[in-house]
Amino acid sequence: MDLYVKLGMLLIMAIAVDATEISEYIPRISKNMKNNITDKTFVLVQPDCIFTDFTSYNVWLVIALNNCFSTIEDSDLFPPVPYSTYNNRSLAYYHTLPLSAGQYPCSASKSSFINVIQIGSESCTENLFCNGELNNNLTYKVKFILVNSTTIIDSTHWLSNISLPKATTFQESSVWPSGRSGGMIALTSILSILLAILLVFFIAALLLGSQDICWKRTMHNEKSLAKIDFLSHSSYKSKYDHMYSVS
Ligand SMILES: *[C@@H]1O[C@H](CO)[C@@H](O)[C@H](O)[C@H]1NC(C)=O
Ligand SMILES: *[C@@H]1O[C@H](CO)[C@@H](O)[C@H](O)[C@H]1NC(C)=O
Repeated sequence: MDLYVKLGMLLIMAIAVDATEISEYIPRISKNMKNNITDKTFVLVQPDCIFTDFTSYNVWLVIALNNCFSTIEDSDLFPPVPYSTYNNRSLAYYHTLPLSAGQYPCSASKSSFINVIQIGSESCTENLFCNGELNNNLTYKVKFILVNSTTIIDSTHWLSNISLPKATTFQESSVWPSGRSGGMIALTSILSILLAILLVFFIAALLLGSQDICWKRTMHNEKSLAKIDFLSHSSYKSKYDHMYSVS
């Protein structure tokens, strides 16, 4: 008898712990992942094992503009708001990615990889629960809610302050495998080549141009350099000596 009471209490405690796990969970942006935040999307880690005891319910995501934090109550989050209502600025939030709670993973069974969710990955605009593109240069917050067919049962904390960068004119990552640094290297190479071409033209112009003018300019420069610094004078002179011996 005593044992049954104890077991019963343990069971109640276990259920209570599971229930609070949802309300204590804070959604997480995927770390160590390229493009975890772009100008249209962000990537969340799927919550682990917090919905497993609620397989008869559904889980939705609520995406909201960060600055409407105080104005959204859980009671506002049912029924679902379509993406189009957010997209035409009637409301500052919408619902997306409806799944049965049982579809969320439990790391006990899949420990070797992290499941992630990309928000904003679809190009839809009309249908309910569309996971449409987010707007660049805006700050978002997100949370998971647990619902049955008529009401909201529980919800996680908001993850706030998800700032999307301004849109870039081209998708760096798809052009250069290593992102910005690849772009910089390519730009530097192009500039070097342009400089080399300019130098060739410059030398050619000097060789073909009036030698008198060049000579006078060189003399003038040598005088002013000699006043400043002997070392730079000599290197300057030897460079131009070489050029004149060529012509
Ligand atoms: C996104 O991933 C990068 C590594 O690729 C990491 O440095 C950064 O902290 C991540 N962003 C967030 C908000 O966790
Ligand atoms: C980005 O947002 C900031 C602050 O909200 C604003 O001042 C700025 O003009 C925006 N930039 C663009 C390119 O929209």
